[in-house]
Amino acid sequence: MRATLERIHRDALAALEAARSEAEVEQLRIRFLGRKGELTEAVRGLRDVPKSDRPAVGAFLNDVKDDVERRIDSALGALRAAARDRQIAGERVDVTLPGRHHIPGHLHLISQTLDEMVDIFVGLGFSVAQGPDIEDDYHNFTALNVPADHPARDMQDTLFVGEEFLLRTHTSPVQIRVMEQCKPPLRVIAPGACYRHDDDVTHSPMFHQVEGFMVDRHVTFGDLKGVLTLALRRIFGDDTPLRFRASFFPFTEPSAEVDIGCVMCGGRASGCRVCKGTGWLEILGSGMIDPNVFEAVGYDPEAFSGFAFGLAVERVAMLKHQISDIRLFFANDIRFLRQF
Ligand code: PHE
Repeated sequence: MRATLERIHRDALAALEAARSEAEVEQLRIRFLGRKGELTEAVRGLRDVPKSDRPAVGAFLNDVKDDVERRIDSALGALRAAARDRQIAGERVDVTLPGRHHIPGHLHLISQTLDEMVDIFVGLGFSVAQGPDIEDDYHNFTALNVPADHPARDMQDTLFVGEEFLLRTHTSPVQIRVMEQCKPPLRVIAPGACYRHDDDVTHSPMFHQVEGFMVDRHVTFGDLKGVLTLALRRIFGDDTPLRFRASFFPFTEPSAEVDIGCVMCGGRASGCRVCKGTGWLEILGSGMIDPNVFEAVGYDPEAFSGFAFGLAVERVAMLKHQISDIRLFFANDIRFLRQF
């Protein structure tokens, strides 16, 4: 019996030595200590041991059982600790590594400028309207008193989309669309993109305008001057030199363009390439809405009068931030855009 116990003990120790996983160790617990385990069977075998030997053999058996039990527990403990160590090593975070930077984006300078301009006119009681970028010939030209073959169509180098449609060359067609839908009194602005076949330091094939117009029974050129002077002072500051200059647009009569003193060269006599040597930079066209336009939308030109203007957003941004080339806005150079 003692020899059998010693063999079982040796087997148990050797098997434990070889066990590589918790499952294997659990298997050994069953093999030696389970209900039909080798040591459990040995306990049952005690009754065949002569009574005189029983206490000594029993004590030896208990020692073997205790030893195997302890070793199984400690093998399990060691395997679990090793597993935990492996897991921790895998999840280790080096807290001394530099963090990952997330650079938040921001609105493009043109969007910022557009928002600022819209806010100013909304503050003056204007509401905001929008129209399509792809326009028909009628809204972009004909209804604005520019009939087919009118030489004024040459003023704006149009990008056509098929026979009938075009990329709007200005935001003025939104005047027509709003007046077709609504009755005066009206105070409306229409911010948006415009397109012309044009490309130099002050012209981009895609650019933005804020169209504005006001229609009521007694709107005068004085109202036009007052509203535009106030708005431009809010945009550029009270000291900026402004100049109203007589001009021509088919859809306004009389018409005026407004220039801002060139901030790039300070309006000095020799000028610079942005103001083309004049010391002034044109930023808007305006005038009293032509009676032919009122007739096109079914308003009585005897009963109503109004003014309209179209403000060039990129020009405003260039002047405010002393940017000398309009193409910088759309070159998508992050080093430029990040500055604003
Ligand atoms: N639509 C004109 C342009 O783009 C500007 C303008 C708008 C002029 C409204 C007069 C009235 O040049």
